[in-house]
Amino acid sequence: MVEEKRKVILKTEGLTKHYGGVHALQDADFVLHDGEHVAIVGDNGAGKSTFVRQITGTEIPTSGKIYFDGQLVNFHSPLDARKEGIETVYQNLALADDLDVPSNIFLGREEIYFNLGPFSFLNERKMLEKSKEVLAKTGIKIPELKTQMGNMSGGQVLDLVEKVIVLRQGRIVGEVETAKTDGNEIVSLITGVKQNIDVQPSYI
Ligand SMILES: Nc1ncnc2c1ncn2[C@@H]1O[C@H](COP(=O)(O)OP(=O)(O)OP(=O)(O)O)[C@@H](O)[C@H]1O
Ligand SMILES: [Mg+2]
Repeated sequence: MVEEKRKVILKTEGLTKHYGGVHALQDADFVLHDGEHVAIVGDNGAGKSTFVRQITGTEIPTSGKIYFDGQLVNFHSPLDARKEGIETVYQNLALADDLDVPSNIFLGREEIYFNLGPFSFLNERKMLEKSKEVLAKTGIKIPELKTQMGNMSGGQVLDLVEKVIVLRQGRIVGEVETAKTDGNEIVSLITGVKQNIDVQPSYI
């Protein structure tokens, strides 16, 4: 693995979330460096959303540690995480595919011009400007922000990242650099045909 000289921005150690007997996330050790873009992939139920919910303060982990910018953090709400600069764009709202990038970034907290009865008039220009600002900060390059999310391909999203982390049955089982892989390797990791990280078996 290439030695990383960039500053560590986000680090998790043994991050674990159990829902009763369900080991949704088990001992996840993860590192994100300054300026790095990482995709977390995995089959249905692999633990992707659970992982994200722990690092965005949406849920409290069962155990494990989260460091943000070198500090041990204990987020109690998404607002806590947002104050530190962790933003979440939600995947699984049925409408989101029909929306463009700014609308997805601002989903649920849209900039509103004014309300008229049940209708809200959204300040789209302001959302577009702010989205550009947020994306410029992260270095994510989306050429056409007004493209609907549904028209973006999985590959396009892959082009944006340097590293792919693969979750399977709640564990991180693989880590690949996108420049050195093809889709087949990622699929093998997702399905469990292959594994490139040693994981301990999970005992219930
Ligand atoms: N609130 C919950 N209560 C009980 N079990 C849960 C809860 N949330 C998730 N799980 C379980 O935890 C496991 C991981 O689920 P999670 O939603 O994190 O997977 P995912 O990788 O995001 O899947 P998908 O691709 O379907 O979005 C699954 O077995 C799921 O059923
Ligand atoms: Mg999910």
